Amino acid sequence: MRGIILSGGSATRLRPCTKVTSKQLLPIYNRPMIYYPLNTLIKAGIKEILIIVAPEKAGDYLNLLGSGKEFGVRFTYEIQDKPNGLAEAFIIGENFIDDENVCMILGDNIFEDDFTEDIKNFKKGAKVFAKSVNDPERFGVVEFDENNKAVSIEEKPKKPKSNFCVTGLYVYDNRVVDIAKNLKPSERGEVEITDVNNWYLERGELDVARVNGEWIDAGTFDSLLEAQILAKEKLQDKLII
Ligand code: TTP
Repeated sequence: MRGIILSGGSATRLRPCTKVTSKQLLPIYNRPMIYYPLNTLIKAGIKEILIIVAPEKAGDYLNLLGSGKEFGVRFTYEIQDKPNGLAEAFIIGENFIDDENVCMILGDNIFEDDFTEDIKNFKKGAKVFAKSVNDPERFGVVEFDENNKAVSIEEKPKKPKSNFCVTGLYVYDNRVVDIAKNLKPSERGEVEITDVNNWYLERGELDVARVNGEWIDAGTFDSLLEAQILAKEKLQDKLII
């Protein structure tokens, strides 16, 4: 299993704090934000991790994280020239992924849960993790049938069919590279991870698990504050880096 941390983007909602630095390098209590998603991957035993960054911030990431030796893993770095969408990670990461399965986590997503078993036991298809939230219209929204089976995923719907959204941790088999390469950008000009998830869903190969613990997408000032508190009160003894 290869790991990817997608840590580019423009972080416009956190201006001016992100004018000269990257969102995922801002502090969450006593660590830079990216340490939390990195912890999720490293804890799950992933040794090869690709860090995808925006061009103007690449030096900062190298200075902070280096080769990965310090954490017992190996880091590879790639540049995403523009924030063209989450699914572009699999196009940028094609050589890195090679013929392996891949687990991607967003650099601003902070999870309380431990996903080690899900990641280690993954064999084929795709697995995503859903969480009930108050503002599902900001995310990819999963609709479940009466047997709790996922039947649709819609990206940022105006009228969400449930409160369950897809969180920023995704596990795919090697087909994801070709799937991403064949996607057409959406109306907002991005290659959408929701289209990747729907590709697997339509073929009955998408496993939607639930997130039990807290999950924070630290992209706004309020969620950044919540993340600080979560990190201080609940995450310190779960971190291995
Ligand atoms: P977003 O929070 O959707 O985007 P953003 O970080 O650019 O912020 P804003 O909306 O405030 O301008 O992105 C979610 C995560 O994915 C975040 O860690 C940045 C990352 N990302 C990329 O690395 N490349 C991309 O093309 C996109 C869309 C996001």
